[in-house]
Amino acid sequence: MDWAAYAHEAEKAFEAAATPDQLEAANVRFLGRRSPLKLALREVRDRETGMELNAVRERVEAEAAEAARRVEELRLAKILAEERVDVTLPARLLGKLEPRPRGHLHPITLVRREVEDAFIGLGYEIRDDREVETVEYNFDKLAFPPWHPARSPRATYFLDPQTVLRTETSPSQIHAMEERKPPIYMVSIGRCYRRDAIDATHYPIFHQFEGLAVDRHITMADLKGTLLYVMRAIFGPDRRLRFRTHYFPFTEPSMEPDVSCGICGGSGCRTCRYSGWLEMGGSGMVDPQVLVNVGLDPDEWSGFAFGCGIERVAQLKYDSGDIRALWEDDLRFLGQF
Ligand code: DAH
Repeated sequence: MDWAAYAHEAEKAFEAAATPDQLEAANVRFLGRRSPLKLALREVRDRETGMELNAVRERVEAEAAEAARRVEELRLAKILAEERVDVTLPARLLGKLEPRPRGHLHPITLVRREVEDAFIGLGYEIRDDREVETVEYNFDKLAFPPWHPARSPRATYFLDPQTVLRTETSPSQIHAMEERKPPIYMVSIGRCYRRDAIDATHYPIFHQFEGLAVDRHITMADLKGTLLYVMRAIFGPDRRLRFRTHYFPFTEPSMEPDVSCGICGGSGCRTCRYSGWLEMGGSGMVDPQVLVNVGLDPDEWSGFAFGCGIERVAQLKYDSGDIRALWEDDLRFLGQF
């Protein structure tokens, strides 16, 4: 065997190998167990031949190692080129190149964010309290009298005799005042539950935003100015605000705020039932009894509070008739916002 020619041939084969398969073939042919070189090495009897063949083996193995390095580099370069992902390309949808449809925020979320923005602008803190509430916080500390109809299981979801699904966000007032001393300026937004039959304006789950300000020398003018500011932030700068006297257990005096109708500008239309005004929930000056209930001295501190339904705001703002549409997850409705 001409081992110089063998080594030369092996060198050419390894140099030519460009893929793992070709590399493997060259390895089998020149360095494999049945290759002429390995077979000859097994037969070696004298030192001289042994040294010659080992020198050939080393040379061929070095070529094989070099080829392996090159083939691996080529393999990686190929992967990098072929499997590159251009993340700036539009996603492929239904086999066609087109942008993915964009989702929409739910109208409740839109209103909620707008309310939050308005109050954050006024320096209010945003609270998120529990939906499972105790009778103590949902009614007692808010000075609901024992005979109040809201305490009935026909009006309220009781989990047990001491625990309810909160019927309003007003318990947040108590939590806020118990957590720390005034001054307090907070808004609490979240879900409330009442045992209402479902119709166009009622749903057993709904959302409220609840505001509370407790400080020294808070007056009804502060309440009216704050509500006017927020209603204008939500509905537009031309709105006017008025109060009608009312009753709530935890405010004294209590008022229902009305905002001027934006559809007719106040002259009267179907939406405002030809009154020119839209009812916006409840409000009032924090009842001294409530302050006492949380350990605050009514001679030192005073406050105002208000509560308003988010669904109601959404209905008025987007002029959408039926409250059920807000819960039905119909994309033909939700996609409009
Ligand atoms: N919690 C009342 C309701 O759900 C609304 C309300 C009235 C909230 C007066 C208040 C308030 O904070 O002062 O009907």
